Amino acid sequence: MINVSKLKKGIVIDHIKANHGYKIFKQLGLDRIDDTVVLMRNVDSRKMGKKDLIKIETDVHLNLDVLGLIDPDVTINYVENGELVRKVRLELPLEVTGILTCRNPRCITNQEHVEDIRFRLVDPETKEYACEYCEARTHL
Ligand code: CTP
Ligand code: ZN
Repeated sequence: MINVSKLKKGIVIDHIKANHGYKIFKQLGLDRIDDTVVLMRNVDSRKMGKKDLIKIETDVHLNLDVLGLIDPDVTINYVENGELVRKVRLELPLEVTGILTCRNPRCITNQEHVEDIRFRLVDPETKEYACEYCEARTHL
């Protein structure tokens, strides 16, 4: 097992479903930041069998909405001074803004440039969200 050291200050995104780590890495823009980042794939986990895990040595702001959408089972651990100070378990967000795009070609958001389109969760089973402008259903 490859050994990755503990963080002094930063964020550990844990319990990522195996193979979802790279998607989350890209979605969070971690390929564009200057801080130290590790993506570990296929880590052995007692609870999950295999999992992915990301460690970021930084205090960049993370958009947690998007994580909840990609993988609602992840745990976000915040580390300061080498100590774990906060553990947040995510859920499927009831609302997301600025992440999804409407797939209805007639929707105003596809005719004009509209920023920060809000979608609200309408079906947790299928993870479908409704566009605030036309109510069309979309998922990630
Ligand atoms: N971690 C870290 N640096 C620290 C403290 C913790 O990188 N200074 C990492 C640990 O390696 C682990 C994650 O943060 O991957 C969560 O730490 P901890 O809560 O101590 O582990 P678990 O008890 O296994 O977490 P859980 O109960 O959420 O499974
Ligand atoms: Zn729409």
